[in-house]
Amino acid sequence: MQLVMKWVKLEVTLPKHDFVHQIKVEGRKLCMVRDGNRLFSVQNNCPHAGGILSGGWCKNGYLICPIHRWEYHLETGRGAAGQGDYIDVYPVEEQEDGIYIGFKAGWLKRLFR
Ligand code: FES
Repeated sequence: MQLVMKWVKLEVTLPKHDFVHQIKVEGRKLCMVRDGNRLFSVQNNCPHAGGILSGGWCKNGYLICPIHRWEYHLETGRGAAGQGDYIDVYPVEEQEDGIYIGFKAGWLKRLFR
């Protein structure tokens, strides 16, 4: 079965330098990260104890939660060894007319209700 993606265009302008920011997509908060020349979008709440991941920072391809410093891989969402958890990651595409974040069809209803 092929996954159907819905792409949502961001309504914000993002810096060209590295950053970790909270953004809103259709009213929902996400964590947006630029690490080098790559953009990532992940859930904004840490699964450990609810820390706000957009208050964290990047290190060696991982997003670090500012509360207890648990680490999540920016590409896979997997927690570092021993954590046994993960965060949701959303594909990001930079097009000529803007930046888009992809959501699996059906997820939008669940995410944005
Ligand atoms: S709340 Fe994020 S590591 Fe504990």
